[in-house]
Amino acid sequence: MTAIPQISPERLPELLQRMPKAELHIHIEGSLEPELIFELARRNAVSIPYSSVEELRKAYAFSNLQSFLDIYYAGASVLLQEQDFYDMAWAYLKRAQADNVLRAEIFFDPQTHTARGVAMETVVKGLHRACQDARGQLGVDAELILCFLRHLSEAEAFETLEQALPFRDKFIGVGLDSSEVGHPPEKFARVFAKCRQQGLHLVAHAGEEGPPAYVWAALDVLKVERIDHGVQSAKDPALMQRLAQQRIPLTVCPLSNLKLCVFPKLADHNLRQLLDAGLCATVNSDDPAYFGGYMNQNFSETFGALGLEARHAWQLAANSFEASFVDAATRRGYMDRLGAAFEQFA
Ligand code: HPA
Ligand code: ZN
Repeated sequence: MTAIPQISPERLPELLQRMPKAELHIHIEGSLEPELIFELARRNAVSIPYSSVEELRKAYAFSNLQSFLDIYYAGASVLLQEQDFYDMAWAYLKRAQADNVLRAEIFFDPQTHTARGVAMETVVKGLHRACQDARGQLGVDAELILCFLRHLSEAEAFETLEQALPFRDKFIGVGLDSSEVGHPPEKFARVFAKCRQQGLHLVAHAGEEGPPAYVWAALDVLKVERIDHGVQSAKDPALMQRLAQQRIPLTVCPLSNLKLCVFPKLADHNLRQLLDAGLCATVNSDDPAYFGGYMNQNFSETFGALGLEARHAWQLAANSFEASFVDAATRRGYMDRLGAAFEQFA
């Protein structure tokens, strides 16, 4: 690690805000704010079972992953036109810019939309156009990662991949999300093998609620490059050693883990333990419209609850660039900007 300037604790919130960072675990459908859900419902004449923004927000009290997913899929039902997907992604990208996110690798769930009769082309083109505009207009490098829904079948995942391959140039990788327990990574071994042949980057949610065995399988069977969440890995010392030695990134989402009751309190979160063990852990927002915060909210609340310091901030930002799917020159550019931001606080 390079020398981290001495930074007083009072200036930590400002540092966390101004620090350049990458976001690697954001479901774009999870960035859909209640206000935009209502606007799109009106625009598309879709009825939703809530009478107001306030009533919808009140329903955001979750007890586990599934209780969230039920509402999350209902919220996405208002997305029909290419412009809807653009508007959703653009709103997120503006928020990301405000949080000094230089790079965003954005998950999308095409099966949530194709199951309702929305064409793959509509989804991908709307999201991709927003990513292109973000580069020029916001200075945010944004790329897409297509996620397969693991509660659906292998055959449906293959069908989704077939529908997406004509747009191969518009996404950089694939992931695996939705209900984890009971849907181990092995179910998608052949789909991921095919994606690998296509030269796509591979990631998967594992060890959010599921056991360490799912993290092992994501690594050894799916051959993923990053683990999304992965916090349950701390229960398995041999796995922790593997993750540390191979610098396999974990895209950790503290406020998500709090809201979905993975940890009872933020102060109980194991982020510090993961960093102390030498893992390439990162901080991300997951589904910011549902979990109470975008990137900087995740940083500031987690730092407050765990008593983390400037050196952790530097490590987490550096990890986010190390873990991002960029070329070496781009990564060096991000790291230079990180160093410059810290210098300003020296
Ligand atoms: N876990 C699994 N699936 C998801 C999540 C998550 O945190 N967010 C959106 N889909
Ligand atoms: Zn997620």
